[in-house]
Amino acid sequence: MKELFDLPLDRENTCSVKFDARKAVFGREDVIPVWVADMDFAAPEAVTRALAERAAHPVYGYTLFPESLYQSIIDWFRERHGWEIQRDWILMAPGVVPSLHAACMAYAAPGEGVIVQPPVYPPFFSSVRLSGREVIENPLIHDHETGQYRMDLEHLEVCAARPDARLLMLCSPHNPVGRIWSEQELTAVLAIARRHELTVISDEIHCDLTFTDKPRHRMLAALAGPDDALVTAVAPSKSFNMPGLGLSALVIPERDRRNAMKAVFDSMHLQQCNPFSVAGFEAGYRYGAPWLDDLMAYLQQNRDFVLQTVNARLPGIQTQAPEGTYLMWLDCRSLGMNDVALKRFFVEDVGVGMNPGISFGEQGSGFMRLNIGCPKAVLIDVLQRIEAALSGNRPATDQP
Ligand SMILES: Cc1ncc(COP(=O)(O)O)c(C=O)c1O
Repeated sequence: MKELFDLPLDRENTCSVKFDARKAVFGREDVIPVWVADMDFAAPEAVTRALAERAAHPVYGYTLFPESLYQSIIDWFRERHGWEIQRDWILMAPGVVPSLHAACMAYAAPGEGVIVQPPVYPPFFSSVRLSGREVIENPLIHDHETGQYRMDLEHLEVCAARPDARLLMLCSPHNPVGRIWSEQELTAVLAIARRHELTVISDEIHCDLTFTDKPRHRMLAALAGPDDALVTAVAPSKSFNMPGLGLSALVIPERDRRNAMKAVFDSMHLQQCNPFSVAGFEAGYRYGAPWLDDLMAYLQQNRDFVLQTVNARLPGIQTQAPEGTYLMWLDCRSLGMNDVALKRFFVEDVGVGMNPGISFGEQGSGFMRLNIGCPKAVLIDVLQRIEAALSGNRPATDQP
């Protein structure tokens, strides 16, 4: 299997955002793309086969969500996460980001507040703002000694107590800092939400991407009681590297809350689904587990290689091992560059396209997000280039 993940795949000219949008995003087509959160690996064979079989039938008509699809979700979460889902709790959705936006519309009125925990995946901000709701920031605490992040639960309580606060968007595991929230943290979140009558939408799209040497991921819903106002967003798209297929699931035990979400989707006529998404989604959950286990073993090696190399050989840059996700959060603050200079340094002097930390909120200033979901050879090249640029032609600092 290792050979499979080592295999370089040419993704150029496949309408890949990661590869084919480089000129538009970085101003150069030749940066090594280690940004957008998809991986450069072939999806599990079972997924490719299911898609090919569906494509072989030449009618691509309007498609429904088959019962077998719902069952694949139920089985996956029971077996993999010890979480029992009932069939009628599931609402299929066109993606997790659209679900975040829909949650703002369903559970907060225009002008009301939605709590997010920055630094965090940018659509957590944009879904709130674009839906006309107010962002309430509950920044994570960054421990400068260990480099680890944790929740500021005291401040979360203050945010939740605001009369306009309606919804909390949890990112679990957390993108970009890679935390798997502890049971204690998750239980505290549920208690705060309960005390202040907040709905929680827990984005657990990265729940399968966890490392065997780190704490186990706990689904928030598996810790919740029947009265908790909880919406869980999941998808196999990150787990089996098929996010372009665009499909996800919401699990909402409480009927009124489920109907409120459904009403938002219905108001936009979003009940339709794509025949390929259905085929890929179900095949991933049904047959993808062995591939996923191999993937995580490979990513663990990538993670350890990056961790060791960055901390030993790249002066001014530090990183920690993420507990989940295939994203690493590089602390570049000691390089002494502002965010514009930092981005320019990596694009122009290094030739690498990463996500600037500042796009995850002001708390991400001075950081860069590196996607390690690629053959190790790519990461060797990336780190060698950074090392060379740091030792050779260190750029002038601080000039935008
Ligand atoms: C935390 C998180 N949520 C959602 C998404 C995207 O979800 P979707 O493609 O289903 O809209 C991503 C993609 O990077 C993500 O990291």
